Amino acid sequence: MHPQKRLFFATLAAAVSAATAQSPVCGGIGWTGPTTCASGSGCVVSNPYYSQCIPGASPTSSTPTSPSSTSSALPFVGGVNTAGYDFSVATNGSFTGTGVNPPTSQFAHFASQGANIFRIPWQLMTPTLGGTIDPTFFARYDATVQSALSAPGSPYVIVDVHNYARWNGGIIAQGGPTNNQFTSLWSQLAQKYANNPKVIFGIMNEPHDLDVPTWANTVQLAVNAIRSAGATENVLLLPGSSYTSAQAFPTEAGPYLLKVTDPGNTDTSKLVFDVHKYLDSDNSGTHADCVTNNVNVLTTLVSWLKSNGNRQALLSETGGGNTSSCETDVGQELAYIKQNSDSIVGFVMWAAGAFDTTYTLTLTPNPDGSDQSLWTIAVKPNLP
Ligand SMILES: *[C@@H]1O[C@H](CO)[C@@H](O)[C@H](O)[C@H]1NC(C)=O
Ligand SMILES: *[C@@H]1O[C@H](CO)[C@@H](O)[C@H](O)[C@H]1NC(C)=O
Repeated sequence: MHPQKRLFFATLAAAVSAATAQSPVCGGIGWTGPTTCASGSGCVVSNPYYSQCIPGASPTSSTPTSPSSTSSALPFVGGVNTAGYDFSVATNGSFTGTGVNPPTSQFAHFASQGANIFRIPWQLMTPTLGGTIDPTFFARYDATVQSALSAPGSPYVIVDVHNYARWNGGIIAQGGPTNNQFTSLWSQLAQKYANNPKVIFGIMNEPHDLDVPTWANTVQLAVNAIRSAGATENVLLLPGSSYTSAQAFPTEAGPYLLKVTDPGNTDTSKLVFDVHKYLDSDNSGTHADCVTNNVNVLTTLVSWLKSNGNRQALLSETGGGNTSSCETDVGQELAYIKQNSDSIVGFVMWAAGAFDTTYTLTLTPNPDGSDQSLWTIAVKPNLP
């Protein structure tokens, strides 16, 4: 729905409230006032835009206003992760070396076939925790980002902080780096890419084994830091836990991340949930064979998104091996996303970039320039 219509309904609801003083408004799309009623009254939904305190109604019928997104900030997106800078980052957040540059020739290669999004992992290159980003590394990383942005069709780029919510074994704000040390990194990245609407900020790759409410607070502080650094227009990807499992999301981190607000924006359309899902026997993305097309898991996710204010998610990692099972299952998974792109706004395959063509899930083109058959058979037909 258009924001101006929301304003209209909120104004209408307020007018109705004033006219019937004993039946105050307690909710509805666009309503920012109190959502509780006086003792003896209950909040009853009249329609999605208007809930009213009714004397004698059961307080349990109260429906608090959930943040709602009114429109999609992104078109349907499909593309590939270009890995490399993340190669030395372990799942405990330790890293060595400076990573490997993904070959920039891949951006035009995939974009010319219709890919309109690339995810570029970032390595946490602040020589001092909470300090200034290493300018040499930042220049290298930015050259890759600019190359992707200037590929045919001007693709989107996800700047992906690939550190599992950790640094050298310690969890952010849970024994490891402080929230301020983490948000300092995001302030610097946000200043660099502020208001280029083609740059999407992936707040953190695959948090895991942490306290979810505490982590949701860290995510909120990162959102606040990005917005106060002046990047008010960029779409932000909000990560849950369990390695951002799409399956765990609705019952694990989803309820907490729903409450994250977007300072300076009138709705939550620029806050998109970040999810990952593989198709192998243990959902790890380490086996060549696929055992599911994930449609059951994604159907549950879509229904949860729809019933929580029509929010959106983006599948920023999925992938399979060079096998007929994966050609079938990945193809069905991506076709489902394409059909439901109002809820799951896109997918990013794992992975090309600096991987060679022997990697189990490789999508790196062969030396002769031909594509992997998984790309040709399962991915390409489902690109935007
Ligand atoms: C993190 O994991 C890596 C790889 O398994 C290991 O070499 C390193 O010692 C670990 N670091 C910490 C601080 O636990
Ligand atoms: C992919 O699988 C096909 C069929 O089994 C095989 O011919 C081809 O060499 C494989 N490609 C790679 C890169 O392993």
